[in-house]
Amino acid sequence: MPIEFDRTGFLFVLEGIDGSGKTCACGEIVNKLQAEGYNVVRLREPTIESEWGKEIRKRSPAGELTPEEELDLYSKDRAWHIANRINPALEDGKVVLMDRYFFASGAYQSTVLDVHWSEILQLNRIELSAPEPDIVFILDVPAEVGLERATGRTGKANLQFEKIDRLIQVRQNYLEMVEQDSGTFKVIDACQSLEKVVDEVYNEIIQRIKCRNGSSQR
Ligand code: TMP
Repeated sequence: MPIEFDRTGFLFVLEGIDGSGKTCACGEIVNKLQAEGYNVVRLREPTIESEWGKEIRKRSPAGELTPEEELDLYSKDRAWHIANRINPALEDGKVVLMDRYFFASGAYQSTVLDVHWSEILQLNRIELSAPEPDIVFILDVPAEVGLERATGRTGKANLQFEKIDRLIQVRQNYLEMVEQDSGTFKVIDACQSLEKVVDEVYNEIIQRIKCRNGSSQR
């Protein structure tokens, strides 16, 4: 059963392992939506705005945070994001496109904490009242492909984020969510060209907007 929403705005999320190409895809999809006249807001987690997001971005890649500290910082950053960016945009009737959201906490933090991904999702839904996305797109690539792309991009593997075993587990968690979680997910084969990935996600977004509105929302 699709979830019913009483908000006017739309929330779409791109998720995937490191190197899945979601950040590039996100930029292209935003451009396409804007070219069609949609009022789009592009957001990203961890944020670069809150003190907690800044702390994660600075200290996590250097391996300075314990898994518990990371989960705590991601949650605080997200609480800030929901209150200051996500909810206001949804209340304004905008189309919000997010590059990662609380599903990333479930997929990643559960690999280093003795907590199942479903508990982390639950924590975000209950304690943070995180708004539910219309659709979560999982840009799916095998861990080896993601690692190769991410390593090529940065010139070196980021030891904290991009170890192969962890990426295998993270991917597995995302795919389990698709099967078991209550949210609405679409798995996109992200081994395809960027153009195809963008087209698939874009078409799903347009369909969803038209289906919920009965007409297009611009
Ligand atoms: P990025 O590759 O999208 O910039 O994300 C940076 C890293 O942050 C990525 O390896 C996944 C990680 N991350 C978490 O571990 N938990 C979270 O809740 C979020 C939002 C990101």
